[in-house]
This record gives sequence, structure tokens and C-alpha cells, in this order.
Amino acid sequence: MSAAARPIVLFETVSFAVGGRRILHEIELDVREGETVVLLGRSGSGKTTTLRLVNRLLDPTSGTVLVEGRSTRDWDPIRLRRGIGYVIQETGLFPHFTVAENVALVPRLEGWTEARQKARVRELLELVNLDPEEHASRLPEDLSGGQRQRVGIARALAADPRLLLMDEPFGALDPLTRSELQRELKSLARRLGKTILLVTHDVREALLLATRIALFREGRLVVLATPAEIRSASDPEARAFLASQSAEEPSAEEPAAGQPATQEGE
Ligand SMILES: Nc1ncnc2c1ncn2[C@@H]1O[C@H](COP(=O)(O)OP(=O)(O)OP(=O)(O)O)[C@@H](O)[C@H]1O
Ligand SMILES: [Mg+2]
Repeated sequence: MSAAARPIVLFETVSFAVGGRRILHEIELDVREGETVVLLGRSGSGKTTTLRLVNRLLDPTSGTVLVEGRSTRDWDPIRLRRGIGYVIQETGLFPHFTVAENVALVPRLEGWTEARQKARVRELLELVNLDPEEHASRLPEDLSGGQRQRVGIARALAADPRLLLMDEPFGALDPLTRSELQRELKSLARRLGKTILLVTHDVREALLLATRIALFREGRLVVLATPAEIRSASDPEARAFLASQSAEEPSAEEPAAGQPATQEGE
């Protein structure tokens, strides 16, 4: 991705407050076409709030969020949201809809023909490695957590949005399934050329998936850098995240060069 790629999302000095309490402080962030920007930060640092400003579930208290060059305040929220795939932690699937009905949600709202919806559902389930014959007519409760996550991703991709917002999409999964889905998402993102804004508090997930990591601390964006830069960053919050990773995984498969495992910064 070239530095000249245009921003799909641009935060211009964005602050957000609720009840007089500032939750986000003057965020400056750009997400360029084809990038995967990962919002990394502790619980309560403002990641979800940042995501919700993009699809206009929230409006900034001050500053401007631009999507495809237009302020979210000037977008019709419905049109805006239909053009953005949104995956939330518990996938947000409709429990009384089958897998196929869930995946076809936006295409149906957009008035696609039945035949086109059906073909799209098939294509998407195959894309996320779910056999359509076996899974299309099931209800979400009859799937495993990992399968539900796949359906959530398929649904977000259904109307071929250019931008995907993903809020801890793999949070509830066992480590092996999580790492499998992370790899699949990475290859999907490349193949489909999607622009992705993904939230996590898992530093390994961030290092694996991100073209750039936006590190949040107490409502401020403290570092915006590539994974390689983050690995050698001196910022204390970045160091704390990296230390937590090496504490968790003393024999990580790709140890960061020159970064001995330390217990500091817990
Ligand atoms: N509607 C609201 N009213 C009041 N406070 C809120 C509201 N929404 C979020 N907050 C507060 O704003 C802060 C940031 O919340 P946010 O959900 O963005 O954090 P997060 O980084 O996504 O955390 P987590 O990793 O736990 O999901 C938290 O302190 C939260 O309690
Ligand atoms: Mg959150």
C-alpha cells in the first residue's frame, strides 16, 4: 500500500464526551485504502467509541470524522452503515434468522433478487470456509463460537463494503481457532483489498494483522506506527503490551529481535 493511497477514514482532532466526561481526546487518525489499522489498548481506553464514530453510532463532540472524504455528519447514517461491514464481539447475529438469512441481511435490504442473494450467500460461506450445504439453513445457536464468528464476517462482507469495522472479532475464541481465523482474515483482506479498522487488546493479534497499529491509552492515541516500529517503540504503554506478550509466550514463534522476555510493566 502506498503512502499516497487516499484515506477512507480520517479523524481530524476528534474529541468525544459523555455527560461532561471526555472519553476521547483530540484523535488524529487516517486509514488508507487497503490498510488494516488495528486499534490496540487496554479495556476502557476508547477503542469501541472510536469505531462507533466511524459508522455514526456516535457523533464527535468536536472535530470531524470523514468517511470517503465526507464528514459523518453529512452522511445519511443508514446509507453510511450499509456501505460499511461491522463485526462486533458476539457477532450480533439474529438468533431467529438462519445463517443464510443473516448473511443476506444487507443484500435483502438493498433489494437484491432472491437468486442473487442465494448465490452471494453460497459464495461468502465458501469464502469463510463454511460448507453452505451443511450450514446455510442452521440457526446461530446450532453453530460453534468460531463458526458464528465466520458467519459474522461473511455477513459483514455481503454487500461488498469497501470498509470493515471489526470490534474484537475473535475475542471469545480458543487460541487455536483464533489464530486460524486471524490468518484467514489476513489472507481475505489481501485478496479482497479491503480497508479494515479492527479493535483488539491482544498485542499479538495487532502485530499479526496490522499494517499500522493505533495504540490508545486513556482516550488518547499515543502511538500510531507499523508493527515493526511498535516492536522497538520506547513508549511505556507499547513496552507494557510487548512485555505482556513475551510473559505469556516465553518461546514465541517469532521472537522480536533484541527483545529479551521481561516481566516488567505488568
Ligand atoms: N455511553 C457512555 N456513557 C458513559 N461512559 C461511556 C459510554 N460509552 C463508553 N463510556 C466510557 O468510555 C470509556 C471508553 O469506552 P470504550 O467502550 O470505548 O472502551 P474500549 O477501549 O472499547 O474498552 P474494552 O476493551 O473494554 O471494550 C470507558 O471508560 C467507558 O466506561
Ligand atoms: Mg470495546
